[in-house]
Amino acid sequence: MYLTRRVTDDIHYIGCDDRKITLFEGVYSINNGMSYNSYMLLDEKKVIFDTVDKAVTEQYIENVRHVLGDNKLDYIVVHHAEPDHSASFSALIRMYPDAVVICNVRTKMMLEQFYSSEIAHEIKFKIVKEGEALSTGKHTLKFILAPFVHWPEVMVTYDETDKVLFSADAFGSFGSMDGALFVDEGEFNLDEARRYYCNIVGKYGTQVQTLLKKASALDIAYICPLHSYVWRKDIGGILDKYTKWSLYEAEEKGVVIVTSSVYGNTDNAAQILASKLVQKGAKVKMLDVSIKHNDVVIAECFKYSTFVFASPTYNAGIFVRMEEVIRDIVAHGIKGRRYALIENGSWAPLAAKQMEEILSTCKDMTCVGALTLRGAITEEGLKTADELAEALMC
Ligand code: FEO
Repeated sequence: MYLTRRVTDDIHYIGCDDRKITLFEGVYSINNGMSYNSYMLLDEKKVIFDTVDKAVTEQYIENVRHVLGDNKLDYIVVHHAEPDHSASFSALIRMYPDAVVICNVRTKMMLEQFYSSEIAHEIKFKIVKEGEALSTGKHTLKFILAPFVHWPEVMVTYDETDKVLFSADAFGSFGSMDGALFVDEGEFNLDEARRYYCNIVGKYGTQVQTLLKKASALDIAYICPLHSYVWRKDIGGILDKYTKWSLYEAEEKGVVIVTSSVYGNTDNAAQILASKLVQKGAKVKMLDVSIKHNDVVIAECFKYSTFVFASPTYNAGIFVRMEEVIRDIVAHGIKGRRYALIENGSWAPLAAKQMEEILSTCKDMTCVGALTLRGAITEEGLKTADELAEALMC
């Protein structure tokens, strides 16, 4: 059965939740489902904005049929060609072969790469450029390019009539909506929104800032993202968070201690350091990479001002999960942090130097010191831990 909601008098939510998903895009851990958002404008012209993931195509088609009824579908606007939003595109265009697909030249190329073999007829494209406008009757849609928020083809649309920003991946979150539509109806979780931001577009801070600058010129009453709740309250609050995140500024002063340990000695030293930091008044978060997904560690590293990485030496290098996590953090463009290292190696401790080499590829990173263990921490090691705690508090 269809399940749709009105965003405004003319704009309908036609997206769907997937509560069975546990891993998004094969990488990101999902604890509470995922929503795939799509919207329909019923004006003199009828417009659908994006489609949904293939996991929910059946429900989606019911939603489309219900809201569109016997009307002709005039346009499909594709903001983002990534398959979590375009996988149902081929089903939709087969149902409405006369609909004109509005997108930019990069999107057209990607849609053809993904779906041309599934579509028998020739698709009618309307290629739009930055700032181009389209009247649908009462509404005027303005198309705004937002490359690399998240893929290079991304664009957003501003509906000047209802003051709605269709924001593609921006301002979304992990998590299903569970019957709610608006952020003030649901259980918005800032930690999940941050984890989504850092992992999906964290690498592209400069491009996010460019979009924020364009958005600042708009009078926005609603933000309709492609995942999670529609924003109609506290829009300034989420824009402020995006500003901070895109500038790679820490939200809180505190220390993330990222640990790994084969027999417990490295973790013991990390815990001792954590205790010393807490006693000095620091906020500390410990994460063991053997059981935490990279996406969780990345989000905490974006949130806090300071890190510690603690790793045994493993095959003359960094412990395998720790190396993966550090490389993933670096790949997400983080910068401007202070950090300390703990290494362990019974006969040849080699992890710290290699961790520092990887982290040195980030901008504005400062290593405040390292603690080297050769098994269990010693009395001398405790003194070094004291010094590290002091340096991390500065
Ligand atoms: Fe939600 Fe970049 O796709």
